[in-house]
Amino acid sequence: MPEHAKGAAPLWGGRFSEAPTGDLARFGASLEVDKRLWPHDIAGSKAHATMLAAKGIISAEDAEAIRSGLDAVGEEIASGAFVFDPTVDEDIHMAIERRLTERIGPAGGRLHTARSRNDQVALDTRLFAKEAASGLAREVRALMAALLERAKAERDVILPGYTHLQPAQPVLLAHHLMAYFWMFSRDLTRVEAARHAADASPLGAAALAGTTYPIDRQMTASALGLSSVIPNSLDAVSDRDYALDLIYASSVVMAHLSRLCEELVLWSSAEFGFVTMDDAHSTGSSIMPQKKNPDFAELVRGKTGRVYGDLMALLTTLKGIPLAYDKDLQEDKEPLFDAVDTATASLAVVRGMVATMAVNADRMAKAAGEGLMAATDLADYLVGKGLPFREAHRVVGSLVARCVAEGKALDDLTLAELREFSELFEADVLSWVEIGSVVARRRSAGGTAPEALEAQFALAEQLL
Ligand code: ARG
Repeated sequence: MPEHAKGAAPLWGGRFSEAPTGDLARFGASLEVDKRLWPHDIAGSKAHATMLAAKGIISAEDAEAIRSGLDAVGEEIASGAFVFDPTVDEDIHMAIERRLTERIGPAGGRLHTARSRNDQVALDTRLFAKEAASGLAREVRALMAALLERAKAERDVILPGYTHLQPAQPVLLAHHLMAYFWMFSRDLTRVEAARHAADASPLGAAALAGTTYPIDRQMTASALGLSSVIPNSLDAVSDRDYALDLIYASSVVMAHLSRLCEELVLWSSAEFGFVTMDDAHSTGSSIMPQKKNPDFAELVRGKTGRVYGDLMALLTTLKGIPLAYDKDLQEDKEPLFDAVDTATASLAVVRGMVATMAVNADRMAKAAGEGLMAATDLADYLVGKGLPFREAHRVVGSLVARCVAEGKALDDLTLAELREFSELFEADVLSWVEIGSVVARRRSAGGTAPEALEAQFALAEQLL
């Protein structure tokens, strides 16, 4: 058992006669959460040791012993041999340094020269955020590719488009799926901006004010692949904006996923019947044998709430804390990890649903064809015959009222019945309100017509 585990002071040594133990130690510790930062902690420490030796602050031999000792500690962690105990080590930084010193002796004690856990944790968290943002961006891109592929495969499928969840105008399913493609393309921009925000080095800020040692901050930044050095030491140790940015980007990803999932839940209901979820993405009921539930879509929708909570949690933690480091900042990791983990995993789950769901094209077309969704086009027809749009709207409005009263669809009306409302209706009106031509006429840029959709596909392909 290490010396301080018996109640003696930990790494900060001399000043204390007693250290927090048991529940108090566990309360103060972040080890269980921040242990996943270990690869970044080791990378940061190796770069720091190399720089210290290059500047003559420690010897080349000590730096070499530190680097190989850190590699050995890394192997212990990776193999599962390392024992994490929050009553022994408060956080991953102390755990690694303790083990290093146990392995290599006094040279291990030289690693922390010109450094504080304040710049160390800021560094590790930034390296994590950069990597996590890359992983998140990869998943966003993969979902975009799946949406594009599915849209291209369903080029001919028509379904009702809705506003207020009331049938509005028919649209191509591909057009509907591409709406999500563009949402996620904006997520990609946000995730990349968050990655950029994390991409700067706080190392060398030390506790808050910089250090008296002749360090080279650019050298460690470059070794760690960070694009710049944060110009103010107080800001370097207390900035968590990049974590907020990444949680915010994750939150908007979840907002978009929750909208898509809500539609998949609706569409897979018996009443809609537009899609059938693949069995692997559904669950049954322990009591009702007939049930097939879209659990995963619901779960993604539900997890959205927790990710929003992560954003609010960190915003609130950061509110009003004075410069520079405060222990409050230790609370940054749980929301950050949870938000990116949840968003990354949710993207993959939804990608699976989009790729495997069965599209019930007949059901969709039937829903798009029946009812009154060609009403706008009927008005446009009259406009084509010279009637002002407001007048045409009124004529079709009373025609719709008749349909509603008689429980008819627009295409149930005969030419003679139509002509009761306007003499301008002629035989060609019957094919005019046919659902395929209703869609095909919406050729304006960004519209649902097949040719406008092809232009979207071209843009989307360019983007991917
Ligand atoms: N575990 C701490 C954190 O995550 C590391 C920094 C501790 N610094 C300190 N001055 N107590 O914030």
